[in-house]
Amino acid sequence: MSGHGNGKVILLGEHAVVYGVPAIAAGLSSGATAVARAANATAAPTLSIAPWSVSVRPGDGSALGTAFEALVRARRELDPQRATDRSVEATMTLPGSAGLGSSAALGVAVLRALDHADDIARDFAQSQQIALAWERVFHGNPSGIDTALALAGGLARFHRQPAAGQPALVSIEGAPITLVVAHSGASGSTKETVANVAALRASQPEAFAEALAAFGALVHTAERALREGALESLGEAFDEGQTLLRAWGVSTPELDAMCEVARGAGALGAKLTGGGGGGCMIALVRDEHDAERVRSALSVRGREAFETTIGAAHTARKEKT
Ligand code: MEV
Repeated sequence: MSGHGNGKVILLGEHAVVYGVPAIAAGLSSGATAVARAANATAAPTLSIAPWSVSVRPGDGSALGTAFEALVRARRELDPQRATDRSVEATMTLPGSAGLGSSAALGVAVLRALDHADDIARDFAQSQQIALAWERVFHGNPSGIDTALALAGGLARFHRQPAAGQPALVSIEGAPITLVVAHSGASGSTKETVANVAALRASQPEAFAEALAAFGALVHTAERALREGALESLGEAFDEGQTLLRAWGVSTPELDAMCEVARGAGALGAKLTGGGGGGCMIALVRDEHDAERVRSALSVRGREAFETTIGAAHTARKEKT
């Protein structure tokens, strides 16, 4: 009766994706797993989360309790006959507020555990709809990229408003790439950074539109580079992406400094990933040897990092700490 949701790294296009620009992201095998159990007949079901030692109930006033309630309600609305109330025990294998999609991974794991217990098989669109009801509680105006990757994994281009008849998620086939993922030591609030970017858009509409166009061009370049295995070009796109994100105020001095350290140790490019304001950065490296150099340079700075290989077959991903 268990369910899994993937974490994710955004390679390019975070924040811009909220405004309809495509973005490229990859699922991580780390994320969340969950098991559903019959609820106690006399009490509301609980959602407990290890290793956070957190236990919530629908509508208990906590963000997680509100998200659990939204998910349970969305399931019930779609399947009034089959969806039952159950308690869920979840386990996180990713840090929260790190830009790695932990909340989406958790929501998807909970959804899948409940569906599994009720013997409900859902398509992507319906799962995405329910997972978004959960995710809105945390992120206000989510584009859906985190929940899409939590559901599908793999390496893909995501579009919030795909052209008529086109899927939201288009898989990208290419040679595997290796990333070093490092935490800046500060947690980031995606809700806050997304709200700050929205304020910037309202105050500087023309400059914002130009930046969106630049993000669109970068994502296009990066997708071609991924398909062709053009690592230098992908690395340059990472660096340019970081410059644009910094101009939007979603980087931090520590994330900027870590990107510099990674480049200095041989990374082909580096940028923050996800919501920013803290959380993680990613550095593109040529091989395991360079990954080790980047990791050890970051560790001198006191920053923990892991390495992940993304691409080729959707299953060809490994995470190594
Ligand atoms: C968060 O992982 C990615 C953002 O673009 C927000 C979103 O797309 O919902 C910052």
